Amino acid sequence: MYFELSEEHLMIQQAARDFANTELKPGVIERDELQKFPHEQIKKLGELGFLGMMVDPKYNGSGMDTISYVLAMEELSKIDASASVVVSVNNSLVCFGLEKYGSEFQKEKYLKPLAAGKNIGAFCLSEPEAGSDATSQHTTAVDMGDHYLLNGTKNWITNGGNASTYLVIAQTNSALRHKGINALIVEKGMEGFSVGPKENKLGIRGSDTHSLMFTDVKVPKENRIAEEGFGFTFAMKTLDGGRIGIASQALGIASGAYELALAYSKERKTFGKPIAAHQAIQFKLADMATEIEAARMLCFKAAWLKDQGLPYAKASSMAKLFASDVAMRTTVEAVQIHGGYGFVKDYHVERLMRDAKITQIYEGTSEIQRMIIAREILK
Ligand code: CAA
Repeated sequence: MYFELSEEHLMIQQAARDFANTELKPGVIERDELQKFPHEQIKKLGELGFLGMMVDPKYNGSGMDTISYVLAMEELSKIDASASVVVSVNNSLVCFGLEKYGSEFQKEKYLKPLAAGKNIGAFCLSEPEAGSDATSQHTTAVDMGDHYLLNGTKNWITNGGNASTYLVIAQTNSALRHKGINALIVEKGMEGFSVGPKENKLGIRGSDTHSLMFTDVKVPKENRIAEEGFGFTFAMKTLDGGRIGIASQALGIASGAYELALAYSKERKTFGKPIAAHQAIQFKLADMATEIEAARMLCFKAAWLKDQGLPYAKASSMAKLFASDVAMRTTVEAVQIHGGYGFVKDYHVERLMRDAKITQIYEGTSEIQRMIIAREILK
């Protein structure tokens, strides 16, 4: 067992760190406040290959492993979790799903521009009444012979307004329950497809989250991913990998807040010495560092299992469950260490604290992760 990163991994980590500091950091407070999508930054990330990191180069991807993806997600999320969620959804929910289960036609038409960062993708599973209970899909895709007629509403869709390609999960045969669900590729601009207003969120405010409405949208049969009825399994298997992305995002939010708190605690003086010299602060820093290291190991373990072709559903849920709790605890403590300064926007930690919360909710709440882990250990 080696705990060393390869030269290549270190280069990717450094490239993501440099990008985060030079391209994401300027303007991050303003984008958060004004809910501005990081258009320019996402375009550049696409040009650098960060939007199709694990996709085969023959489909315009960067051909990297999942460890590289964890490293990049951590570095980007230290600075801007609104940008990193775009990277995560595009890489692990959209590109991964299309590359693993899509047809050659779908890969040529949809995966190639997504992996090159020319288009952005969205993954559309959640509904007003189907979040955690994902089998209860009310969106319908009625089989009309050469196409499906899509009707319904999707909620909380990351990249909802800025995506061009949407992977939509819908019920075709309700008698078959989850085995009657399909995954369809919907293009922005298809007749009957509209995007609702942007949600005004607590955190990741630079990313755009929308409801989507489908009214008699004709989706050609060639846009169904894999065989009839595979949609629910498609969503579950894709989310297994997506959770590695969100776990790494949570890890980055935690380590970003920790690094800020560490630096601040060496500068700020109280009672005649830096606050880092007080045991009360040292204990906080020690706990933060320990928990972050444990979260990182869980992320690497899940990524390594995926790269080896071994089962990783349990490991990715463990990584997400633990890392998201660490993100929440660490950011709260980072604000506390900063005192009053932590409560104002200029010091970044209040934003990281707000951003941390969503990592315990999206791609399955912490309660869902526990359900998945329990199911795996009991089977
Ligand atoms: N891989 C493959 N198959 C799986 C699977 C997996 N990881 N998980 C479940 N399945 C299969 C089961 O084997 C079962 O198939 P069979 O009947 O053939 O055996 C079928 O799916 C149904 O499974 P369950 O009976 O376990 O289903 P359930 O209704 O009890 O719940 C669940 C399953 C794990 C709780 C699931 O509903 C779930 O993951 N819910 C959370 C959904 C979620 O993460 N939503 C987030 C939205 S996406 C998002 O947030 C993206 C974004 O914008 C950032």
